[in-house]
Amino acid sequence: MATVQDENPFTGPIGREYEMLRLICPNAAPLAGKLADHLATAQPGALLMGFEIGCGTGVSTLPLLAKNAGLHLLAIDSSAKMLAQARENLGEWIDAGRVEFVEADALEALRAQGDASFDVVASNYATHNFRDDYRSGVIAETYRVLKPGGLFLNGDRFALDDRAAHLALTQSMLRHWFKTFASISRHDLLEDWVVHLYSDESPEHIMYFSPALTLLREAGFAPEVIYREGVDTLVAATKPAPR
Ligand SMILES: C[S@@+](CC[C@H](N)C(=O)[O-])C[C@H]1O[C@@H](n2cnc3c(N)ncnc32)[C@H](O)[C@@H]1O
Repeated sequence: MATVQDENPFTGPIGREYEMLRLICPNAAPLAGKLADHLATAQPGALLMGFEIGCGTGVSTLPLLAKNAGLHLLAIDSSAKMLAQARENLGEWIDAGRVEFVEADALEALRAQGDASFDVVASNYATHNFRDDYRSGVIAETYRVLKPGGLFLNGDRFALDDRAAHLALTQSMLRHWFKTFASISRHDLLEDWVVHLYSDESPEHIMYFSPALTLLREAGFAPEVIYREGVDTLVAATKPAPR
């Protein structure tokens, strides 16, 4: 049974210069916007208690708060470097009492919450970093902490089920990274992102699309795919309410 995940690439240089993500993964911020929009459509105007897994520098936290006036978030991340940026970027939201940023391992933080204590659990580009066994633990705990009828919104990279197509897409992305980082002479960061990608694509981490949906169903969720382009995907998984 997984406990904490001690590997986190965002404690090093790619966390310090996280704004480079827009070059590495241009869809990450727009997907966070879609995630926030989906919550606003699904639960318009409601007073909501939310938990964010892997909030990073606040790129995903900001649209969630801005587009959902009734949302109060407990936003956790295990990288102090990322959280320091989040606290700086979202200072006014902290002062307004809309968000609390806490440095914590995702699974440990979820385990510390009571049953059925949140209306929504959100995550953007965090769960693909997890090892399979750890991810299963996070999904099970997410289900437990959600209220019946609650929503798990996960915007992330879900690998293509077709292995050959996924390899071709990854190779073409790598070619793009090399061109982009060469043009700004940042081979140092390119090296860190490639090493990180190697971990994401490794057999014990890679999050294939269909198995990920099966995992959600097995945990009890009713998942719905809201958006998918290439690997970039938004899944809304509802914890069914008793009839
Ligand atoms: C790619 S970043 C995404 C950040 C943010 N959600 C966004 O959309 O920009 C992934 C984040 O997950 C965090 N993370 C990775 N593993 C974690 C874990 N086991 N527990 C908590 N946070 C974790 C990293 O520190 C990083 O900030």
